[in-house]
Amino acid sequence: MENLISLVNKLQRACTALGDHGDESALPTLWDSLPAIAVVGGQSSGKSSVLESIVGKDFLPRGAGIVTRRPLVLQLHRINEGKEYAEFMHLQKRRFTDFAAVRQEISDETDRETGRTKQISSVPIHLSIYSPNVVNLTLIDLPGLTKVAIDGQSETIVQDIENMVRSFIEKPNCIILAISPANQDLATSDAIKIAREVDPKGDRTFGVLTKIDLMDQGTNAVDILEGKAYKLQYPWVGVVNRSQADINKSVDMIAARRREREYFQNSPEYSHLAHRMGSEHLGKVLSKHLETVIKSRIPGLQSLINKTIIELEGELYHLGKPIATDAGGKLYTTMEICRAFDQNFKEHLDGVRAGGEK
Ligand code: GDP
Ligand code: NA
Ligand code: MG
Repeated sequence: MENLISLVNKLQRACTALGDHGDESALPTLWDSLPAIAVVGGQSSGKSSVLESIVGKDFLPRGAGIVTRRPLVLQLHRINEGKEYAEFMHLQKRRFTDFAAVRQEISDETDRETGRTKQISSVPIHLSIYSPNVVNLTLIDLPGLTKVAIDGQSETIVQDIENMVRSFIEKPNCIILAISPANQDLATSDAIKIAREVDPKGDRTFGVLTKIDLMDQGTNAVDILEGKAYKLQYPWVGVVNRSQADINKSVDMIAARRREREYFQNSPEYSHLAHRMGSEHLGKVLSKHLETVIKSRIPGLQSLINKTIIELEGELYHLGKPIATDAGGKLYTTMEICRAFDQNFKEHLDGVRAGGEK
């Protein structure tokens, strides 16, 4: 039986592939109903660093200004052995083993859609990473919230970014990974501000505190991490990412994870929390949570999928021979994916009923 997260991944890809066809079918509703985890935070809060730590790989574009200008749907697939590699949905024939080339392709593909105007676009880039060092997980990286436009960007960019972020996280099925730096007052965190707006009770927000190593001497984040301040439904996770100096020295990500673990274990303030701190722990918590959420949504998703199949059949009927046009071909593929889904979901439900699930 295929795992639930990778099943939902397939549906997400199918929805994007049909994006240009969206309005006429049930797919936009389907896309909105798929559980996902979106990463939000202010510029330089440490979003890219958190994602790279979870992946254990250095692969995201960096630089000053607004680097992430399109949503990046990052699908992580755990493999038991072999060398890690990456694939883009828009380049299906190519397997990347060089992660510097992945970084370049994200950047090039961003420019292909937005021009070199530095504008933003809500059309996602889909990237899959296969590695023995990841958990099964899908994360959506979004542009960083910012306060000012820089040269070459339109005046509206600040608001455009906020609107795009909100359009993702306001969906009730979106899990929010809210990234805030520990060396700034949490009351001013862009991530917490926007998360509170769409999820006031914190029912679907995971708070991540970065830069714990950069806090002022004599201060610490224990109150937040213990849930005494800024309480959310789920416990806060503190992380220590690579510093800029580490990045300049190309400190290995796996070594950085080990160092992070030691940081929490060896500091007197945090050692009692060490078992639930760090990026590796964060990845595991999110993977487990995503799976639980998907499982709880199966019945709803199933009826939506059945509705989608019927609508796709109707559209194909109007188009005539399915393979005749590109759109027809895509519709046909999507319909096949939906059918396979329906079957897989049934098996999962049967597995649950029989108590046979691991
Ligand atoms: P983003 O703009 O939110 O994607 O932020 P980045 O991940 O690019 O991080 C911005 C800067 O903060 C980089 O120079 C990182 O090295 C640094 N940084 C991020 N997290 C930490 C951390 O936990 N500790 C330290 N010392 N530096 C960090
Ligand atoms: Na922030
Ligand atoms: Mg970034």
